[in-house]
Amino acid sequence: MRKKVIAGNWKMNNDLNQSVELIAGIKNKISSLKNNVEVIVCPPFTSLETTAALIKNTGIGLGAQNMHFEESGAFTGEISAKMLLSVGCNYVILGHSERRAIFGEPDELINLKLKKALSSGLNPIFCIGETLAERENGSTFDIVKKQVTNGLVGISSDDLKKVIIAYEPVWAIGTGKTASPAQAQEVHVYIRRLIKELYSADSAENIIIQYGGSVKPGNAAELLNQPDIDGALVGGACLEAESFAGIFTAI
Ligand code: 13P
Repeated sequence: MRKKVIAGNWKMNNDLNQSVELIAGIKNKISSLKNNVEVIVCPPFTSLETTAALIKNTGIGLGAQNMHFEESGAFTGEISAKMLLSVGCNYVILGHSERRAIFGEPDELINLKLKKALSSGLNPIFCIGETLAERENGSTFDIVKKQVTNGLVGISSDDLKKVIIAYEPVWAIGTGKTASPAQAQEVHVYIRRLIKELYSADSAENIIIQYGGSVKPGNAAELLNQPDIDGALVGGACLEAESFAGIFTAI
């Protein structure tokens, strides 16, 4: 039985004071959490260390939103896996569609980042998903296949156990247009089948596949009740403690 994993991607929101306030609000609500649900917060880099101290012993996981694939060196403005570990991160979001579209990150770069995260001891939340144009021209499955296959090149089945896949259709991100539970379930089944082909039935059965794209308290239960949807990667609705908690208590 796979657990449900709810992660909040704060994106470029919340300075240090706002982060402290949001974490306090989330901690207030977390007591109602069930055993088979895991909650992860992914604040901006500048709030990671403070957040790590505030969530100590709460069971809440801590993730960053990006990292560089090199160990260290002349990469002005970049952050390494080792730096993330040193401030208490155990997760890192990689391959988010905003990184792909705005910052031009190709599958090959995301693959290097995934491998570095895994060899460093971070658990990647590996994002994939098609654009509206790709859905409309019928290439959703091809795009998902390409992103999953290229992203996971050279990753062992042992390392795959630490990877969470987040299926985030780009057209559903920040638009208020959620994929219907059936639309999301269909792609999740496809991804699981792909993992079976690339790895094994066991890997496919155990991998956590989150859905992301306009998840809110009002639609979380029906999405997360789908048999192959193992959690959510939440953007807008994770910026208020009330609505973020509304998602993990909706399960
Ligand atoms: P929204 O929940 O705001 O649609 O964002 C989803 C997302 O991009 C999470 O990574």
